Amino acid sequence: MSTLDIDVYATRTAAGDADEQFIQRWSPRAFSGEPLPIADLHILVEAARWAPSCFNSQPWRFVYAINGDDQWSAMLDVLMDMNQVWAGNAGALIAIVAKKTFDDGNPAPTASFDAGGAWMSMALQAQKMGLASHAMWGFHHDQAPAALGLPEDHAVQAMVAVGKPGERADLPEKYQEREVPSPRKPIEELLFHGKLG
Ligand SMILES: Cc1cc2nc3c(=O)[nH]c(=O)nc-3n(C[C@H](O)[C@H](O)[C@H](O)COP(=O)(O)O)c2cc1C
Repeated sequence: MSTLDIDVYATRTAAGDADEQFIQRWSPRAFSGEPLPIADLHILVEAARWAPSCFNSQPWRFVYAINGDDQWSAMLDVLMDMNQVWAGNAGALIAIVAKKTFDDGNPAPTASFDAGGAWMSMALQAQKMGLASHAMWGFHHDQAPAALGLPEDHAVQAMVAVGKPGERADLPEKYQEREVPSPRKPIEELLFHGKLG
C-alpha cells in the first residue's frame, strides 16, 4: 500500500466543512525513488507562482534537482542525515528560497510569508497530482547558500522533497512508526475575537 493511500481520517478529525484537500494533505517520508518528470515540476511551480505577495513582488525562487541528475547529490548533501535517510528516495528536491529585498533594494519584510504561501500552493498541487511532498528545515544552513548559489539577499525557507509516494514498509523502522497523518489543535485554541487571550 502506498503511503498516500493511508486513511487520514483514522488520525484526523474535521472541525468543519473546509475542502477535504486540506485534511488530506500530509507529509509522508516514503517515496518511490522515481525521478520526477520535469513537466510535473513545471506544473508545481506554475501553481506556486500564482500565490499572492506583498506589492506582487513574487519574492519566491525555486532551486531544484531531479533524483539522479547532475545536481542531485549536491542538493541531497545539504540535508541533515535524519532527512537524507528518506528524502534520497524523493523524485526531486526543491529549495524554497525567499528574496529578502524588493527590486529597488529595500528590505522586503514579508518575503518569508509570501514564499510560505507559494509553498502551500505547490504542496496542494502536488497532492492533486498524486504526489507526496514534505518540507524540511533540517538542512545545513551554513552550507545551503553556497551549495545553491544564493546571493546575499536570498534565504532558504525550506527544502522540499516531492515525488511519487512509496511504501511505508520500505522506510527504516523508526520512520515507519511516524508515517501517520498528524492531528491538529482545536479551533478554540487558535481563533480569537479582537484580542488574543
Ligand atoms: C517549514 C517546515 C519545516 C519542516 N522540517 C521538517 C524536517 O526537517 N524534517 C521532517 O521530517 N519534517 C519536517 N517538516 C514536516 C512537519 O513536521 C509536518 O509538516 C508537521 O508535523 C505537520 O504534519 P503534516 O505536514 O503531515 O500535516 C517541516 C515542515 C515545515 C512546514
